Amino acid sequence: MRISENKIEEIRSAADIVDLISEFVQLRKRGKNFIGLCPFHNEKTPSFTVSEDKQIFHCFGCHTGGNVFKFLMEYEKISFIEAVQEIAARVGINLEYEDDKTGKESEQEILYEINVLAARYFSDNLLNSPEGEAARKYFHERKIKPQTMRSFGLGYALNGWENFVEFAKSQKIDLEKAISLGLIGQQKDGRLFDKFSDRIIFPIFSANGRVIAFAGRVLENRESAAKYLNSPESSIYFKGRILYGLSFSKDEIRKVDKAILVEGYMDLISLYQNGIKNVVAVSGTALTEDQVQLLSRYTKNVVLLFDADTAGIKASMRSIELLLKQDMEVKIAALPSGEDPDSYINKFGKDDFYELIQKAQNFIEYQTSYFENQHYFKEHTKTAEAIRELVKLLSLIGDELKRNLLLKSIAKQFNLREKLLETELDKIIKTQSKQDSRRLQVKDGKPNKDKSTLSFSALENKSDPGFIFEKELVKLLYEGNEAIIKLIFSHFTPEDFKYSYHQKLTSEVFEAFQNNDELSASYLIARIKDEELQSYLMEITFEKYSISRTWDELNHELEDDKQLFKFAVDTIKNFKLIKMEELIAQNHERIEQAESEDEKINLMKEKLELQKELKKIKEQFSQGNLY
Ligand code: CTP
Ligand code: MN
Repeated sequence: MRISENKIEEIRSAADIVDLISEFVQLRKRGKNFIGLCPFHNEKTPSFTVSEDKQIFHCFGCHTGGNVFKFLMEYEKISFIEAVQEIAARVGINLEYEDDKTGKESEQEILYEINVLAARYFSDNLLNSPEGEAARKYFHERKIKPQTMRSFGLGYALNGWENFVEFAKSQKIDLEKAISLGLIGQQKDGRLFDKFSDRIIFPIFSANGRVIAFAGRVLENRESAAKYLNSPESSIYFKGRILYGLSFSKDEIRKVDKAILVEGYMDLISLYQNGIKNVVAVSGTALTEDQVQLLSRYTKNVVLLFDADTAGIKASMRSIELLLKQDMEVKIAALPSGEDPDSYINKFGKDDFYELIQKAQNFIEYQTSYFENQHYFKEHTKTAEAIRELVKLLSLIGDELKRNLLLKSIAKQFNLREKLLETELDKIIKTQSKQDSRRLQVKDGKPNKDKSTLSFSALENKSDPGFIFEKELVKLLYEGNEAIIKLIFSHFTPEDFKYSYHQKLTSEVFEAFQNNDELSASYLIARIKDEELQSYLMEITFEKYSISRTWDELNHELEDDKQLFKFAVDTIKNFKLIKMEELIAQNHERIEQAESEDEKINLMKEKLELQKELKKIKEQFSQGNLY
């Protein structure tokens, strides 16, 4: 399927961002905008803002922002193309017969297509090929039924180095892209080879069920090779944003309002095959904030079921913190040592498994028994340390009532005065909120490549008043007011803007203006494709207009077009004056440094001209000649 740029724009403009976001976030009107509690970070006072006329959202707390597509991508942790498809379905635009030969097929669509072909190929090897016998035997020994293999799209990569390469060539697959997806490798001499060879293949699906990556497991535990080989990240696969199995289990998770979180692919598949369908796997990475956010869209109740080894305990502890931070209810089920969920269900069966889940402890009980096992409570100093750790976890819980109840239970359990724990808790909360606000200010945005977490205040050149005027003009251009756009471009071209972000953003509107394109705010904003530019624009369009005398006189939001126009005139005038004054200052400097009388005289002439210009601007505007 191909989706053209035009179609994407059609879908975007048919959707309403306030409608969409209202389904997930409670919004209330404030001024021209809507505000609510940000779904992308924990907060108690709303800094999440939605603009109906600009069709964008922005959070002043975590700096996430964008249009309808971006919202869904972030909210459901899906790719751009998936978001486009989902919104198309919502607004009733049919994409099924779309086959726009003129529009170029999106890069992401091609990647999905390659993955689907690869998944079918691997699956066919496993189910039908003679060479797949060993793999079939392996799964049989691990009690995986053929039906399960089909449901999860399991496969087998043949032994050898050019099986998939040959297949890819025969299917006319773009080999460069197959390399970028990690299906094919390339040697120094240019020779291509299969990345997955003699391995069991687990396709990894997005929450919407699209194949975004693969994991390959060795058949026998060979010393020489890594047990699992995973696809690298790509524009359709972000490791930390995916929960393995979610596309299969999400309905059940919603239905029973509980998710069981396991570590491995085989754990998930085994449980699922045994009828325990509300399960997801972190698979490979430590649990991330994004994964918790994703899971929280389906349920707030999570049971951790990690291996009983040290690594598993560590992973549990870390995961508990993350889950508590996002207001999830966490319980921890303990497996007997030496077992993982897969071996447990196969050995003990479903009833025992349910009992295990039933007996899951809350995090305080879990932590306490851990400390007990480690003999913490035999020494006073160690006891204090343990209690402090527990209180630290408490401090992560946002809900005050819940926090207090748990505090009472800790006090009771250790026979401590509640007041003592409260003081400790207050102390921790205070230092934490300080750290959090610092963290939010300077997020480096690295783990989430497509999340706009940059803070642009660093860009701002405070010593240059021109910066602010440029910024205000850019903001005005993106108000989608034709008269204002016309006015601004009758005075300036993009080259008049010194800062590259401003210049690029201005060029985009300039181009639309010259081509007689639509000039609505939402359309203009949607034209910006560059991620960084986009987030900069989000950041500034939600700022209030901050300068100009007119603004001070008005002293309230620029609600109507008349006021906005007046403000635009004022800003244009001031920007022109500032630019002129800059030229005069430069001229002045050159006069000082002039080496000959001739040069000096020429510069003085220039100075007079500039001063005349300056006067002219002032007069022009005071007479109301705006163009
Ligand atoms: N994992 C990985 N890379 C590795 C080892 C593990 O990505 N080299 C991830 C896989 O997602 C794996 C999970 O960590 O499923 C748990 O690892 P492990 O317990 O070692 O494997 P199992 O899933 O239990 O696999 P099996 O039962 O086949 O041994
Ligand atoms: Mn296992």
